[in-house]
Amino acid sequence: MRIGELLAYFVEPVMQHHQFQRIHNIQISRSERNGERLSDIQFKELSDFQETTARIEGRRKYFKTADHTKTLHGFAPQLVETVLSMDNSVKSVLNVGCSYAYMDYLMAQRHTGVQFYGIDSAANLLEQNSDISAPNLEIISGYGLDMLETRRIIPDLCYFSSTAVVIRNEELKAYFRSLAKTTKYLVLAEPIYSSRGLFYEEGYYDNPDEIDANGSYPTFSQVDFATEKRGYLAYLHNYRAIAELYGFEVLHYRIFIPSFTTQHVVALIAKNKNSNLWSG
Ligand SMILES: C[S@@+](CC[C@H](N)C(=O)[O-])C[C@H]1O[C@@H](n2cnc3c(N)ncnc32)[C@H](O)[C@@H]1O
Repeated sequence: MRIGELLAYFVEPVMQHHQFQRIHNIQISRSERNGERLSDIQFKELSDFQETTARIEGRRKYFKTADHTKTLHGFAPQLVETVLSMDNSVKSVLNVGCSYAYMDYLMAQRHTGVQFYGIDSAANLLEQNSDISAPNLEIISGYGLDMLETRRIIPDLCYFSSTAVVIRNEELKAYFRSLAKTTKYLVLAEPIYSSRGLFYEEGYYDNPDEIDANGSYPTFSQVDFATEKRGYLAYLHNYRAIAELYGFEVLHYRIFIPSFTTQHVVALIAKNKNSNLWSG
């Protein structure tokens, strides 16, 4: 029995890794520009997943009753609001992968001089968010990378909350490259999923600092508990190195376990080195 457990401890993560790598390779081959963009089919699949797994009522109740000083959802806004308090030239904030944009709604009420945008793929995103509205909050159903590359939205600050983690390396670099042209600040609050899956020892985590900016790898695949649909493939990224690659200076970077979870989380605030963005 002990030998079996021991074998599983070592063999299972390797098998999982191979499986995730296979899914990753399939995703790359189906995407556009060598993995930089979701193809139309991939976007539709993401959109369908977001729509069918939304459980709108449950999410609304959770967001309205949770103590967001103790949730990961509440963590990204703390970082965003730190920047807003430091730099009053930040007049627009984009949340890529907003899903239910309740936290943006709360921030919009607190910062009435700032325009908030939430974007996500679900075709029914507006319906999902129909119970929240503010004059300075716009919810957009669409592909975030398109909005940035076509400059439909030019945010002063762009943030990802549990979203960058499910974006492939090539695509994440396309996001950061696009943001580097127009956006003053980049903010991330992302969980770190272990490649050891369920078999990891307490306290173990894959350290993103040890990998190359181009070396992200898939570590975990989420399966929706109700529909059993395979959801996103989560990646280990060296966010700091990727942000620096595209001309952001990292002002704040922390990997830690928040008091409300057992999982490692990475927090990052980075400022664009292009000072021209502040003039005019
Ligand atoms: C784990 S959910 C997090 C949602 C929300 N930010 C939160 O914290 O509740 C991941 C989000 O990333 C979005 N997403 C997945 N792949 C994406 C991509 N390639 N580009 C933009 N958003 C993506 C999904 O639609 C989903 O809303």
